[in-house]
Amino acid sequence: MAELLELDAEVLQTCLSELTAWLGELSDPEPARIVDLGSGTGTGTIALARRFGQAGVTAVDISPQMLHRLAKKASTLGLADRVRGVQADLDEGWPALGTSDLVWAAASLHHMADPDRVLAGAFDALRPGGLLAVTEMDFFPRFLPDDTGIGRPGLEARVHATLNPGPAVDWTDHLTRAGFVMEAKRPFAVALTTPLPAATARYAQACLRKLRSHLDEQLPADDLAALDTILDSDSPYSVLRREDLTVRTTRTTWAARRP
Ligand SMILES: C[S@@+](CC[C@H](N)C(=O)[O-])C[C@H]1O[C@@H](n2cnc3c(N)ncnc32)[C@H](O)[C@@H]1O
Repeated sequence: MAELLELDAEVLQTCLSELTAWLGELSDPEPARIVDLGSGTGTGTIALARRFGQAGVTAVDISPQMLHRLAKKASTLGLADRVRGVQADLDEGWPALGTSDLVWAAASLHHMADPDRVLAGAFDALRPGGLLAVTEMDFFPRFLPDDTGIGRPGLEARVHATLNPGPAVDWTDHLTRAGFVMEAKRPFAVALTTPLPAATARYAQACLRKLRSHLDEQLPADDLAALDTILDSDSPYSVLRREDLTVRTTRTTWAARRP
């Protein structure tokens, strides 16, 4: 998971940068106290600390390993004095973090057993006028062309249709129920073509491996065999050797304010 998150940060940097710039436009004054919920290895924490150069950012995660990686990264980037990690299980209640100007939750809310309780905690922790940003993937990124040269066309579409049949959650009602006033719901579409970021092939391999780990008998044997070949680093069809990769995904961000 940690490796996947770091590749994700590298490949989708432009999207993240657009997103933090937008939060800057929605914030007046600039946020000084920021909380990143379910920070993982710190993709959002670091991006926010860079965007808001005076802010202190508190990264909250249940995993000490994730927080350890985050602390190392912050230190390497000279941000250790403005970034702190707090290990906490947000399902067990809101940790004592003080008042915040901006709370950020990227790809984390859907992991919580009771997201509404976490949103209520975020509401209480924000100052009046403070902003909450929730970001989630509409769908897992896609990389392959329709015809991969091996097996039947449409392999990646069939993998996604098998594993993600339902629409993504819309957080709007959850946010209003917690007392927030919606500012905006904004999709950020990613459509990267060549020249791709250097880490793209490794990112594609990590994402497809993760999907493969959830697939068992749900796909026909010929599809599974084709996918395994594409995941095999030594195969001529390997995702690591292909010239035909692209990156397609959409992330939606809900920005909501505590009145
Ligand atoms: C998919 S990762 C997203 C990480 C990061 N926000 C990003 O955008 O790269 C989800 C993170 O939520 C954390 N998490 C899951 N359940 C949690 C909980 N109950 N309390 C705190 N953190 C939790 C996981 O440890 C993981 O680091």
